[in-house]
Amino acid sequence: MLSRYGFHLPTRIEIGAGMLRETGTMATELTTGRRAFIVTDPGVKAAGITGRVESSLIEAGFNCCLYQAVKPNPKDHDCEKGGEEARQFKADVIVAVGGGSVIDSAKTIALLQTYGDPLTAYEGRGKVPGALTPVIAIPTTAGTGSEVTRSAVINDTKRNLKISVKDINLTPRLAVIDPETTYTLPVGLTASTGMDALVHAIEAYTCRKANPFSDAMALAAMEMLYPALPVVVENGRDKTARSAMMTGSVMAGIAFSHADVGAVHCLAEAIGGLYDTAHGIANSVFLPSVTAFNAEADPERHARAARACGLDTTNLSPEEASRLLTQQLASISAAIGIPKFSNLDQVNPQDFEYLAEISEQNGSSESNCRPIRKNDYLKILQDCYNS
Ligand SMILES: [Fe+2]
Repeated sequence: MLSRYGFHLPTRIEIGAGMLRETGTMATELTTGRRAFIVTDPGVKAAGITGRVESSLIEAGFNCCLYQAVKPNPKDHDCEKGGEEARQFKADVIVAVGGGSVIDSAKTIALLQTYGDPLTAYEGRGKVPGALTPVIAIPTTAGTGSEVTRSAVINDTKRNLKISVKDINLTPRLAVIDPETTYTLPVGLTASTGMDALVHAIEAYTCRKANPFSDAMALAAMEMLYPALPVVVENGRDKTARSAMMTGSVMAGIAFSHADVGAVHCLAEAIGGLYDTAHGIANSVFLPSVTAFNAEADPERHARAARACGLDTTNLSPEEASRLLTQQLASISAAIGIPKFSNLDQVNPQDFEYLAEISEQNGSSESNCRPIRKNDYLKILQDCYNS
């Protein structure tokens, strides 16, 4: 746990069913300009969510331009193209309507519109020169937390590698959290993005950069997410559970952006960069093994996480409670239909050396609960593949 830390959340958060219909009014409080550049993807647009946001903006007097070229595991060239279009449109505000890929893309589009190409010039921490065109984030999944974080993870398509841009200026200025946007989210996406949110909470709580503020958010997020996840997978129209997932996901985002993630994300980003694996699935396949590895270093925190998830740890030692957590994370993952690592497309054991090396080089590796080196990553990759 850190002894020196800060808490800086520049995002205004508005939560409630139907909230996205107020986007236009809230946008007028953010900018005097009336040119809104909407970043979305074809699936979200087809679901009618983008149109509802656009109508709200038009009603408030905005002239809108739609950019829907975002793909899963967003690509650098799509962000650079979006930045160019936003520049030509002279956008006053960037409005992201979608999941993590869309919101991360919108952040970099705002960055590139304001300061120009290439994206790699801003790779790493604190490389953004200053304020950006303001970003409004409207998540349509309960998972990413990107609506309240200061980072964007984008695929560098020349190196087949995920790069992170981390800077407080990248944080959206407004997050419109409307659980209604998730009512029709397909089961697979509900499960994988929900697991991503749960991983954010667990990694934020157990990582070396945790602090009392991030702990409070992470524990509250686990309390909401863990029981609600199987419910929304079973019945996507359960309003109470959808709402809990949305709120828990925002809290988990605040938690990890003020602490960090750890080895699960390092591995997930490595395979996401190489194989284009969906981020939530990539996280899920490594979560139980990494939890088992980490729990040896800090069984008390893992036992506390188990209790926050609602597991019955009565009469269990911290070590036993940690093992229960590991088992239950594997069970919940299987129960909601997450595939095994060995069943994912393209996975090839010959890549494991490379994947272990890339995971070790990830900036969040040093935040992991337990010191972790390339050989540890290699063993986790092999164990997950063979299990
Ligand atoms: Fe994540």
